[in-house]
Amino acid sequence: MRIKKTMMLAAVVAAVAAEAAQVIKLSDGWEFRRAGGVWERVTVPHDWAIAGPFDKEIDKQVVAIVENGEKKAGEKTGRTGSLPFIGEGEYRRTVTIPSGTGYASLVFDGVMSEPEVFCDGVKVGEWKSGYNAFEVELPTKAGEHQILVKAKNRAESSRWYPGAGIIRPVKLVLGNAVGVKTWGSAIWSPDLKTVKVKTECRGEVGRIAHRILLGDREVTASETGTLTGDFEPWSPENPRLYTLVTEVYAKDGTLADRKEERFGVRTLRYGDGKFLLNGTARKFKGVCLHHDLGPLGAAFDKDAFRRQMTLLKEMGCDSLRTSHNMPGEEQLEVCDELGIMVMAESFDSWQLAKVKNGYNLFFDDWWKKDVRNLVEKCRNHPSVVMWSIGNEVYEQNTDAGAALSRALQEECHKYDPDPNRKVTQGLSWMPNAIKNGLNAVMEIPAVTYRLPFYEAMYRDTKTGIVLGAETASTVSSRGEYFFPVVPTNCPLHANLQCTSYDVEWTPWSNLPDDDWATQDDHPWTIGEFVWTGFDYLGEPYPYDTAWPSRSAYFGILDLAGIPKDRYWLYRSRWNETSHTLHLVPHWTFPGREGQVTPVYCYTDFDEAELFVNGKSQGRIRKNPKSRLDRYRLRWNDVVYQPGELKVVAYDRNGAAALTKTVRTAGAPAKVTLEKRRFGKLLFVTAKIVDANGTLCPDAADNLSVSCGRGLRFKAICNGDATSLESFVEPHMKAFHGQLVAIFEGEGDEVTISR
Ligand code: GAL
Repeated sequence: MRIKKTMMLAAVVAAVAAEAAQVIKLSDGWEFRRAGGVWERVTVPHDWAIAGPFDKEIDKQVVAIVENGEKKAGEKTGRTGSLPFIGEGEYRRTVTIPSGTGYASLVFDGVMSEPEVFCDGVKVGEWKSGYNAFEVELPTKAGEHQILVKAKNRAESSRWYPGAGIIRPVKLVLGNAVGVKTWGSAIWSPDLKTVKVKTECRGEVGRIAHRILLGDREVTASETGTLTGDFEPWSPENPRLYTLVTEVYAKDGTLADRKEERFGVRTLRYGDGKFLLNGTARKFKGVCLHHDLGPLGAAFDKDAFRRQMTLLKEMGCDSLRTSHNMPGEEQLEVCDELGIMVMAESFDSWQLAKVKNGYNLFFDDWWKKDVRNLVEKCRNHPSVVMWSIGNEVYEQNTDAGAALSRALQEECHKYDPDPNRKVTQGLSWMPNAIKNGLNAVMEIPAVTYRLPFYEAMYRDTKTGIVLGAETASTVSSRGEYFFPVVPTNCPLHANLQCTSYDVEWTPWSNLPDDDWATQDDHPWTIGEFVWTGFDYLGEPYPYDTAWPSRSAYFGILDLAGIPKDRYWLYRSRWNETSHTLHLVPHWTFPGREGQVTPVYCYTDFDEAELFVNGKSQGRIRKNPKSRLDRYRLRWNDVVYQPGELKVVAYDRNGAAALTKTVRTAGAPAKVTLEKRRFGKLLFVTAKIVDANGTLCPDAADNLSVSCGRGLRFKAICNGDATSLESFVEPHMKAFHGQLVAIFEGEGDEVTISR
């Protein structure tokens, strides 16, 4: 009896599934060529430039970067990563439309850039922004159709590495003449017991039914567009997801479409000096990220992104700003699943150009279309908690800036039925943004750096909150320590690296400690988005005129995804569930014997004692009155002797709670491998260590990589912003004793040797 019931259920499901629109991801079957070149088989997403080679002349920009305070033009090398993204490229493949198809389209999640789409030689669509999703309708005639996608990248069109080509997934939609439009549904929760749904359809619809499932269990159902129930709220701590099933019936009563969408139930409130998620006040512990995935380039990979988000979550991070562009669909899926609150951004510039051939070329004709697709595509993701209409736009300095801000803000609300999801933009030209009315217009007033202006912004707002849309811009290179240790704004070092003592910042910014002091001293701040979570390709400030620097130094983690010391500083404040105890620097400095070598400790404990070879260097406490001792413990006069550096942290009762020891390394003896798998990708961190397993922090040996059957080598990266070695050759020099190799496939048989 039981078997019979299951079989019957399976038959019903199969019949229903046949009515649903099919959404097919088109990853394989593509061919690619640079203009005039030879076709080669590729998988999509694809970034035609990441394989290099690096070249100083690529997109060399002779410009003054006004927002960095520059008055005179200078030769900027590496600004966009020095990889060959400029020019044209083409992709082709066939798609098959089955007979009886009533609706067919291609949904592109992002093509870098200015894509044009042709079907059987006829142009069927185009877009401008390389970051936004767009849909093109295809003919429904049954049979094979030839698809051609052209992309083109101009010189001086970006302030960072944009990547090149079909950088995000492409989907083929096959449906009936009657059905839910792509991005046609809107799901939101006015309170934690109510889910509202609006469904926009194509064709003549009879009725629409909704059901909400938790796994396989039906929670509630309705045909009114309002569903009630006892829902578990979505939050970073408990990212509970439900499924909305929408069934669309044609006028004759037949089922025409069935769509399943994941969503979460959560409420947002901004105002009265607070941000509330599900009724509880919290401050954003967020990072800004560009879209590139380091050595994998701009070709989006869900597993690589999941690794990035996992590493950030383990640090205690709970939010992400997709600076300065529209997020990819799969990015948001990962954020929904892991519990990362997202500021979904749209533009880095409006009408006024930051770079000659930037979005300014298209803004007037395209901004409404871009805002619409951004909002319609992203609105059902519980992770998206605010929209951003811009980053440090030059219009802050003009009379027109406030009106344009208002128009963009209203445009977001036009397509988002959740009135509580608010709009922000990163303001920077203080006090002009206040004088010209932009700050007062914004529902979430937000500033980039510029801590001295927080109070003035707060006084100027109606909502009584201020967000750090971008904070810190502290620069560091993993494993680099310069002496003496002098907190300064961007000194230049001969080897084009920045200190890992985390005391160097850009002239327009500050240190993490300054942001935290501002947040702690002003209850009406609602948190921050640090610039940046990971290093990224391009923007190698302060070495943007000093070839061969070609990637950023801002990251909390390096380009390979290896934590810098700063990771532990943020972790000590942000991770509220486990303790942090980390020592800076390493303790292997041949030649520094007898010299002052400061020691910093990043910890959530307030008090600790440091020992060098068993001799106490003093027991100290954090000092709320001192800029650099409020959140760190520092012993500034330690004299270096090789051996053992040990710290003992004390809890509130004065009891020894945790100990950490760092040892001087001997000669390099072997390579150890740390493997971590994310879906189909295996990430292997190789470390050159001495006979006792201590990291050799200056080892720079060339490491060769190979793997067993079932795995395919994909990319390699050492986190050195000045390295011109290829990301796609299976060998590279270690940087400060480490590098990361990435493999795709099954198994974990990997060899990395000196
Ligand atoms: C900000 C800008 C970011 C990045 C950062 C570097 O002003 O919004 O895109 O350039 O500076 O510190």
